[in-house]
Amino acid sequence: MPAFRAPRGTRDLLPQDQLALGRLRALGEELAQRYGYHPIATPLFEQVAVFERGIGEVTDVIEKELFLLAPREEDGERWALRPEPTAGIVRAYVQHGMQTWPQPVKLTMTAEMFRYDRPQAGRYRSFWQFDVEAIGDPGPAVDAEIIELASRFYRRAGIKAFTILLNSIGDAACRPAYVAELTAYYREHVGELPPLERSRLERNALRILDSKDESIAALNAAAPKVTDRLCDACAAHFAAVREHLDALEVAYTLEPRLVRGLDYYTRTAFEIFPAGAMGQQSALGGGGRYDGLVELLGGRPTPGIGFGLGLDRVLLALREQEGGAGAIDAPEPTPVGVVVGSDPADTVTRLRVATDLRAAGLAARAELGQRKLGKQLEAAARDGAHFAVILGDELASGNVQLRDLEAGTQRAVALADLARELQRASISHRHGLAADRPEAMSD
Ligand code: HAM
Repeated sequence: MPAFRAPRGTRDLLPQDQLALGRLRALGEELAQRYGYHPIATPLFEQVAVFERGIGEVTDVIEKELFLLAPREEDGERWALRPEPTAGIVRAYVQHGMQTWPQPVKLTMTAEMFRYDRPQAGRYRSFWQFDVEAIGDPGPAVDAEIIELASRFYRRAGIKAFTILLNSIGDAACRPAYVAELTAYYREHVGELPPLERSRLERNALRILDSKDESIAALNAAAPKVTDRLCDACAAHFAAVREHLDALEVAYTLEPRLVRGLDYYTRTAFEIFPAGAMGQQSALGGGGRYDGLVELLGGRPTPGIGFGLGLDRVLLALREQEGGAGAIDAPEPTPVGVVVGSDPADTVTRLRVATDLRAAGLAARAELGQRKLGKQLEAAARDGAHFAVILGDELASGNVQLRDLEAGTQRAVALADLARELQRASISHRHGLAADRPEAMSD
């Protein structure tokens, strides 16, 4: 047993995982840029009030899951690690006067989030989200554009089957009456409510509808539906979002019970699940409209919409699906060449030749240990290198041996031409192997 382990609910991403995560991040960044989103980074922690006010005090994220930082007397401020990116990005939008920029302001961030959640498969205390936010556009077209972007991300990542659940949860005009009706409904069933839900009854009945507690699943199924209570403006907005999605041929399933776990949502709400797995900890992503959030955080009334896609869960789902994770899990590219030499002690020359190859843009390693040539060559082959550059006596006349490790052939090459020769050889080598290479991620 090691003396120290990664904190509960967190995990180390070993090279294979980090490589796969990096590919998902790169995919998100590339797509977001293509759709007109600009990168932003907000701090890992914010004043607690940003989250409390933005996300809502009566939510799991604030009540149970916030990672609070121990306060320092002299600052008199309370901070928490970000449990999600939207509140911080909207705080930045207000702080930097982005309301005066051409609207909408489209921002994207891929970053680690922290929730003091009960750890289980797919639910971590530290996890990655690919997030986009379009602030300043009331929709409905941008709502569909964002949902289509999420669906393209999953397809390109290689998720074979997923379901987009869609709902509208009304706005300040129609939701209060619905929440009052919902509260009255739960009051009638107060005896069936578990303690946490009961404590939320008078404060935020929507959270009961969103409860993870299985014991009230039937009660929730019979509760009044928000979609039956939308005002005309919200109903028209929702119909238009669906019309745009239909035009884009994005398939979705209407789910009138989807209310999302954060308080800032208005109107459009959506969540994405791997097909056949609707459990709370399998949601691959979610998002929606938050037309009141900018104002809540001190700005002028401004509409907004966005999503957060859970990259750890996307990776899990990819690995669980039939056929595996495909290109996302492709092995690390192997080095083109490894520099070895007949004089075990001459690490200086091996390192110098490898450094020159790297400066020329090639992926090269050097044998920096002091073992015999035979062992060096064995290690190069084990590394998966395509070529070995063998330094021997002919170095005195400016030549080295270039060995194709797979073909087992070898020829003399002038040191001055080595980078060019390796480049050429590796290109023809790659072409020869093209059939074996994992297919690229494509639309
Ligand atoms: P959320 O539904 O709380 O939304 O989180 C989005 C996604 O993050 C989830 O669907 C899931 O894939 C992933 N996720 C959440 N918690 C965990 C966890 N403990 N472990 C692993 N993955 C997790 C938001 O955070 C909103 N900010 C999304 C949004 C952006 N809405 C508008 N703009």
